[in-house]
Amino acid sequence: MKLDEALGISLRAVDREIQNIVKYDSDVPRSSMLAQSIIGQLRSGGKRVRPLMVIVGSRFGKPQDKRKIWQLAAAAEFIHAASLIHDDIIDNSPLRRGQPALHVTLGVNEALHVGNYMSARVVELISTYSAERERYAYDLSSLVTTQLCIGEYQQLTHLYDYGVTIEEYIEKSKNKTAQLMAACLRIGALAAGADDVTADLLYSFGEKLGISFQIRDDILDFTQSSEKLGKPAGSDLRHGQVTLPVLFALQNEALAPMIRAVSADTSPHLIDPVITAIQQSDALAKTEQLSNRYLDEAADIIDQLSEYPAHKDLQVLLRYFGGRDH
Ligand code: FPP
Ligand code: MG
Repeated sequence: MKLDEALGISLRAVDREIQNIVKYDSDVPRSSMLAQSIIGQLRSGGKRVRPLMVIVGSRFGKPQDKRKIWQLAAAAEFIHAASLIHDDIIDNSPLRRGQPALHVTLGVNEALHVGNYMSARVVELISTYSAERERYAYDLSSLVTTQLCIGEYQQLTHLYDYGVTIEEYIEKSKNKTAQLMAACLRIGALAAGADDVTADLLYSFGEKLGISFQIRDDILDFTQSSEKLGKPAGSDLRHGQVTLPVLFALQNEALAPMIRAVSADTSPHLIDPVITAIQQSDALAKTEQLSNRYLDEAADIIDQLSEYPAHKDLQVLLRYFGGRDH
């Protein structure tokens, strides 16, 4: 079953709210290139995981204003979509979800403007909820966006850096991936009037889930076929990203020298045997173990929220992210 169906949330309603951000933008005509690019970008797919998390968070309170929850949910997708436009430029990725990336169809400069406009528009939208008691809204519009940028920056400054520690990798994954997910759950909860303790537990749950998600994504880069990935296996390492499987492989004395020899100047055919050696080592199993540890910690948090009927939705998220039954 799809995630939205398992959570009992209408994806069409989520999508309508996302489209409304463009539709009711008085500064940008619907027919303009900017609006059309944003619409195209948002229609190109995606599972809407982050908006769904906002709505799940709201189920831990009693929303007075459901419209606000939906707007926050839509805003979360806007931030995510904007970050992917920038990410594809930074990574020089020609494809997103099997389609040409925006910087390929529009050019880098135009795509940058679209991404910038989308993230600025979210700040504008959220500033409607500017009363002090609604400070949570800023978590989404500013704090989390800055964390995304910091995460990307950390990644960029540690390319081909084999001295990176596991703690630094986890920190970067929190910033780049986990904190937006965590903030979505917390913002949904706070916007629905949930208490701070519950909202903070939801934040921790989302953070653990997000870290595990990023770790799994990094494992998939080694395990999935190139057809499925849409890029050659081991692409992260080929681009200098020292992910968790690489860090565990570096602990193997036989593997470490060949991994350390990989630099921006190494030709692709010389990297192939390094990727194969990592795939055949125990690094992927160790990586999976750490990912599962985060899932276990997330499951413990669900236990602390078991008085809420919505804790079942957290179990759905956990199963979806971990592919395991709890
Ligand atoms: C995907 O990474 C990218 C992210 C999770 C975040 C990217 C964030 C920025 C570029 C900061 C700018 C943000 C805004 C809002 C303007 P990936 O390359 O590991 O995953 P992929 O395989 O999906 O590309
Ligand atoms: Mg990328």
